[in-house]
Amino acid sequence: MRVLVLGNGGREHALVWKLRQSTRISKLYCAPGNGGIADEAECLPVDVKSLDSIVALGEKLRPDLTVVGPELALTLGVVDEFTRRGWPVFGPTKAAAQLEWSKSFAKEFLQRHRIPTAAYAICDSVEEVRNALSHFHLPVVVKADGLAAGKGVVIAASKEEALSVAAEMFSGKMVGEAGTRVVLEEFLKGDELSFLVLSDGERVAPLVAAQDHKRIGDGDTGPNTGGMGAYSSAEIVDDKMQNWLVNHIARPVVAGMKAEGAEYKGVLYCGLMMTARGPMVLEFNCRFGDPETQPILMRLESDLVEALEASIEGRVSEGDFKWSRDAAVCVVMASGGYPGTFDVGKNIAGLNQVAAIDGVKVFHAGTSKRDGEFFTAGGRVLGVTARAGDLRTAVRIAYDACGKIRFEGATYRKDIAGRALTK
Ligand code: AMP
Ligand code: GLY
Repeated sequence: MRVLVLGNGGREHALVWKLRQSTRISKLYCAPGNGGIADEAECLPVDVKSLDSIVALGEKLRPDLTVVGPELALTLGVVDEFTRRGWPVFGPTKAAAQLEWSKSFAKEFLQRHRIPTAAYAICDSVEEVRNALSHFHLPVVVKADGLAAGKGVVIAASKEEALSVAAEMFSGKMVGEAGTRVVLEEFLKGDELSFLVLSDGERVAPLVAAQDHKRIGDGDTGPNTGGMGAYSSAEIVDDKMQNWLVNHIARPVVAGMKAEGAEYKGVLYCGLMMTARGPMVLEFNCRFGDPETQPILMRLESDLVEALEASIEGRVSEGDFKWSRDAAVCVVMASGGYPGTFDVGKNIAGLNQVAAIDGVKVFHAGTSKRDGEFFTAGGRVLGVTARAGDLRTAVRIAYDACGKIRFEGATYRKDIAGRALTK
């Protein structure tokens, strides 16, 4: 079969890498892809922000399966459009993806279905924020309602700060259209968990859990980023907790969406806070996480094509995934200056050396390839990922590999999975 992956990040490289292991695939495309993906799939140009551009590509390729990486494409209605034309596509419809593209929808949905989440208030003006603030302790979380590529959440230490952030959001200067509505949220304490499930609209099958590291600096300091690293290991969530999360969060969400007429198919990413009061939903993503997908797929031993098809065809079952007990960790190497401004076009050295290390896979995010050499082309450049029998070894191997890769300005966190190791 001929398969198309849409997107250009480390997540898409991991999807391409895993899909390529399926004996069922005869031809793999990625659009637009990146320098590293080009070694493993045929990369084609597309504007992933334009539904017309994606549909034109679909018309040209007529793939037997399309896998959508980024949320924006889902929000544009790629799944609706491909499905209407009879082209098999993995992911939720635009209506179902509302769980990600509208935080106010997600919060009200959670409340309607009594799924645990932080207390909140939805506000459409600074005045409403001012009134609502009296119901919250400090710090308070201020969120833009719409998609803001990780820049739409601020933890405000004072009421003044919350008001000024909200005003900035409403003005459109901070996150554009995404900030025309603002959600205030109770601040939750605990460990964050990325809990992903595969859904066919009715049944769900959990993926192994992962933990992301969103802040730029060691010890969770500095601004939020797209994600500076992630790990997945058997100890993060035991079977009892996994069952609880399936029964009290994932299944009720999928059942609730179906009951409301927006059947949810695809991967449902539940961003959770493990609080003293129990697990609570921070946010939903309607797609694979980046960088969580890199370590998660390193642990997948069964065929990914089969699982994605089970979602599309309505036959998801627990047996769709076979996981390794090994641990996997992904360390993101970024351009100096990220998540602020940074230079691109820096030559990347050491990749061949690292390719020879057992258990290591380097997933490319912002790279380009010219005359057989790789260059930086984005903020997050590489996801250096290692798999080993235990987490400590996986971490050591990943960092050994990072030490062998060089490009001007390269930075990466030194404490990925650090808290799990000290526990
Ligand atoms: P979100 O996009 O909603 O996941 O928010 C981005 C990040 O902000 C999360 O990964 C958390 O680290 C943090 N965050 C969001 N909501 C809360 C909350 N209610 N309490 C504490 N931290 C939060
Ligand atoms: N790693 C967070 C995300 O994919 O949104």
